[in-house]
Amino acid sequence: MVSTQTEHRVLYADAGRIFESTADHYARYRLPYPEFLTNSVAALAHDHVAAPRMVDLGCGPGPVSLALASRGVDMLAVDPSSEMLATAKRRAAERGLLVDWRRGTGESIADEQGAAGVSGAVIADAFHWMDRPRVLRQLDRVVASGGFVAALCSHATGAPRPWWHDVVAAVRARYVGRVPAAGVGQDYVVPQGDHQALLRNSAFARTSVIRAEHTVRYTVEELVGVQFTYAYSSPALLGDQAGAFADDVANALLGVEPSGMFEAEVTAALILGWRP
Ligand SMILES: C[S@@+](CC[C@H](N)C(=O)[O-])C[C@H]1O[C@@H](n2cnc3c(N)ncnc32)[C@H](O)[C@@H]1O
Repeated sequence: MVSTQTEHRVLYADAGRIFESTADHYARYRLPYPEFLTNSVAALAHDHVAAPRMVDLGCGPGPVSLALASRGVDMLAVDPSSEMLATAKRRAAERGLLVDWRRGTGESIADEQGAAGVSGAVIADAFHWMDRPRVLRQLDRVVASGGFVAALCSHATGAPRPWWHDVVAAVRARYVGRVPAAGVGQDYVVPQGDHQALLRNSAFARTSVIRAEHTVRYTVEELVGVQFTYAYSSPALLGDQAGAFADDVANALLGVEPSGMFEAEVTAALILGWRP
């Protein structure tokens, strides 16, 4: 448990274990966000100040922090998972990029040394794992005047899922049931209200949304690998069934697409909130 203090209370008691055992698969198989969206976040940061600093909450293995650091943004990245942070550090070293990686949560970002006065915060595929109103109150204490909060989502609300979604979901249900888990021993908490609505009720109430349609392509091996990046089908959750699950997912996918090549149009989103 990262913090038990009331003002820092996290949504999941064991936040650092939601994604237990997924970091290597994550780094290998998750596709990057559309470049247009990461470029937009970098441009907003640079628009605000000459030498921008940002925080990345729930940085995972660091895709967004690394993308922004390579675009000249000084990044402070937090995540409660030591495993994710170890993978992030390795990837940064491989690329020769400097990011300040810290074990922590969005709910306690205001206590992180160096967070005060940042130009903005980015939260990529991670906001729904947090106590969002609490995180926004924390960000109100550290984001500079004129600054912004950017929630990056690889799946835009209401956009269709890739056509193979139900094929994989049917196999997954046989192994872990239909109710998603938040890693081992924790139930998923269904978020109430979308990110934009939450932002409108915060200090970052001026909002805009950019949706980016793009094509994703996977081999069958990659698509099986992606399943092990999710909290609801992590290697830790599947345990000794992981190998059988991988075989069954591969066979089900090849049953509908014998070429083993998978392509779909998907929509990502960047949800922005500024101080009025
Ligand atoms: C789906 S991953 C996203 C990782 C990365 N941002 C990306 O875009 O690939 C969600 C991350 O949120 C982290 N997380 C979960 N609860 C958190 C919290 N309360 N504060 C900060 N990060 C949290 C998890 O450990 C995990 O690394």
